[in-house]
Amino acid sequence: MPDRYAVFGNPISHSQSPRIHALFAAQTRQDMSYEALLATVDGFATAIQQFVRAGGQGANVTVPFKEEAFRLAKTLTPRAKAAGAVNTLSFADDSIAGDNTDGAGLVRDLKANLGFDLTGKRILLLGAGGAARGVILPLLQEQPAALTLANRTEEKAFRLALQFTGRASVLPEACGFGQLTGKEFDLVINATSTGLSDTALPLPPRLFAPRGLAYEMVYGRETPFMRQARADGSRVADGLGMLVEQAAETFQLWRGIRPATGPVLASLKN
Ligand code: ATR
Repeated sequence: MPDRYAVFGNPISHSQSPRIHALFAAQTRQDMSYEALLATVDGFATAIQQFVRAGGQGANVTVPFKEEAFRLAKTLTPRAKAAGAVNTLSFADDSIAGDNTDGAGLVRDLKANLGFDLTGKRILLLGAGGAARGVILPLLQEQPAALTLANRTEEKAFRLALQFTGRASVLPEACGFGQLTGKEFDLVINATSTGLSDTALPLPPRLFAPRGLAYEMVYGRETPFMRQARADGSRVADGLGMLVEQAAETFQLWRGIRPATGPVLASLKN
């Protein structure tokens, strides 16, 4: 029997993770299976228990179960604790270990695939929900010049910034969209859910520094944020690379071998 892995979410049929992990497994000659499993909205913990009893060795977790997976895990890595959410579970010795590879996936996509070094850069992170929270610590650890959190509901950005005070040598700053006028950033990351609803954000003009980068966490579509950034003359990337890199980070954790992501990213782009 091959070692068994799965991704749990609701909905889940659109997930690219089975394809990505199958490509990693073929490339590194690992004898494993990876399937997409639908859990009912109130049935996540039961679904995980069933999977473990059936011999499952690890699971990815996606919307809307990342916070529940955080609570389910018996042990947590520091980055999962900081994220307040878990996207990777490992089952061994009757225990459940939780990790979060999303932030590492973003940082690796930026540095290795897009050639964008974060050290000394001015970074703006848009949004203060789960997607934003999951990437803050790994971004701070890259020693940017500044990390600003901007959110429609300002209060949430302030509360989020406070949670990271003292965790890294860079202190995150917080503001509302209105206070962004006249400011300039080398990297602007859209971690709001507006990419999924096709809503434009109230971003001021000239937000992107020359040779700046706009990063949309959503993938597979041209979002209003990407159009705004292009109109402002910025370089633009979507979240497909982050998806592949977080999967590679998880695969390495489970299998102890790091797959090459370039060919997988190229295959998904086609
Ligand atoms: P996720 O887990 O994807 O981060 P979430 O926790 O529901 O989802 O957070 C959604 C984020 O998108 C929030 O930062 C939200 O802003 P508010 O905190 O003000 O609600 C942001 N967002 C959603 N729709 C938005 C819109 N139309 N304009 C600006 N921000 C929006």
